[in-house]
Amino acid sequence: MPDTITIIDDRTGKKVTVPITDGVFPSSAIRELDPSLFVYDPAYLSTAACKSSITYLDGDNGILRYRGYPIEQLAEKSTFLEVAYLLLNGELPNGAQLDQWTHDVTHHTFIHENMRKRFVDGFHYDAHPMGMFVSAVAALGTFYNQAKDIEDKDSRDKQILRLIAKMPTLAAMCHRFSVGLPFVYPDNDLSFSANFLHMMWKVGEYQVNPVLERAMDVLFILHADHEQNCGTTAMRVVGSSHADPYSACSAAAAALYGPLHGGANEAVVRMLEDIGSLDEVPAFIQSVKDGKGRLMGFGHRVYKNYDPRARIIKQVAYEVFEVTGKNPLLDIALKLEEVALTDEYFTSRRLYPNVDFYSGLIYQAMGFPISMFTVLFAIPRTAGWLAHWQELLADKDQKISRPRQWYTGADTRDYVALSAR
Ligand code: ACO
Repeated sequence: MPDTITIIDDRTGKKVTVPITDGVFPSSAIRELDPSLFVYDPAYLSTAACKSSITYLDGDNGILRYRGYPIEQLAEKSTFLEVAYLLLNGELPNGAQLDQWTHDVTHHTFIHENMRKRFVDGFHYDAHPMGMFVSAVAALGTFYNQAKDIEDKDSRDKQILRLIAKMPTLAAMCHRFSVGLPFVYPDNDLSFSANFLHMMWKVGEYQVNPVLERAMDVLFILHADHEQNCGTTAMRVVGSSHADPYSACSAAAAALYGPLHGGANEAVVRMLEDIGSLDEVPAFIQSVKDGKGRLMGFGHRVYKNYDPRARIIKQVAYEVFEVTGKNPLLDIALKLEEVALTDEYFTSRRLYPNVDFYSGLIYQAMGFPISMFTVLFAIPRTAGWLAHWQELLADKDQKISRPRQWYTGADTRDYVALSAR
């Protein structure tokens, strides 16, 4: 069977044959047929907008790998900072590289005092932490004017370091402001995850529990990248205009904010709270099947199988509950999963738990308010966004993102004077 595809324009009889490589054929075939012809592909269901060597995802078989390494192995054996290095550099660091990287990230965790005193203090007292976070990331860029110099590798590397190091600080700052607690400065003697927990929770004496520190790190690893999702696409689209990486990360975080994306774990916990008891599960499932809402934390654009991250998170949940006590919503979640996985509505549509189904329960058990859940997602995803940003800038095939449209509006018509309307 030839690895080619032939497209025939029936209007003209012209045909073009192009190669299929790894299941992909170039859209130049369409342009060759007729430069005024476009493909209508809302939400990019059939469009690969870039080549990428960062994350491999096989949704049918539930496989996720960063730079070739299975997510299960990374979650078991690695740390978030090592994974961030891997995503950004393509290889796992050796001992000296990891020490240097850890040292550099750890020593860039502080933020300019004006970020907090002049910028964050201006928010309304009940501002949503994720709204604050999205704005704070963009504002942070204004403290580093050289960030605009995206052609300079040294400057790019510096901004990457700053963004990864300062995200936990910004995140904790948004939380502390929203609950009226004083800001806690980073403690550079702590690990990346322990430092974040320390900035979040320290009131008087505070010792980070090692089980919770490791759970946080594993959750960070699982959320570090997921190829061309909505937020990463926003990062690439904004980055393609050569905006500075703070602005592009802020755009990516804004995309993540929505309930169909990073906001889903918040929606899952609210859904479980609304269901309230095991007795209500069948009625809730029926209401979803009747089209009265979605089973949040289920379904995925790419995974048509159990999300491998959901499996790992379910295991982490039990480890966390050993320390914190069981989240009372867990039983409802387990029952929902059991019913949905045996219900024809969900199985025929290949709807399985995604990463967000259990993560919210862990966050809640660890004490995070629901409004912080998406912020927790954005901290590690910054590594993925920046890996894609680097890849984009080095990719000679890329230009400024500019899709075409299928115009369906009015044909030309003459202006009508107000008195005649
Ligand atoms: N509950 C009930 N039905 C669903 C669900 C769900 N969670 N998800 C999809 N469906 C149904 C749709 O109604 C549709 O049914 P139909 O063919 O009868 O019309 C079918 O499954 C296909 O759904 P689409 O919306 O076309 O699937 P799409 O790939 O566009 O959506 C999405 C993926 C947005 C994740 C969707 O499954 C969803 O809304 N899930 C709930 C929100 C969620 O958990 N988001 C987190 C995703 S993971 C992440 O972003 C980190």
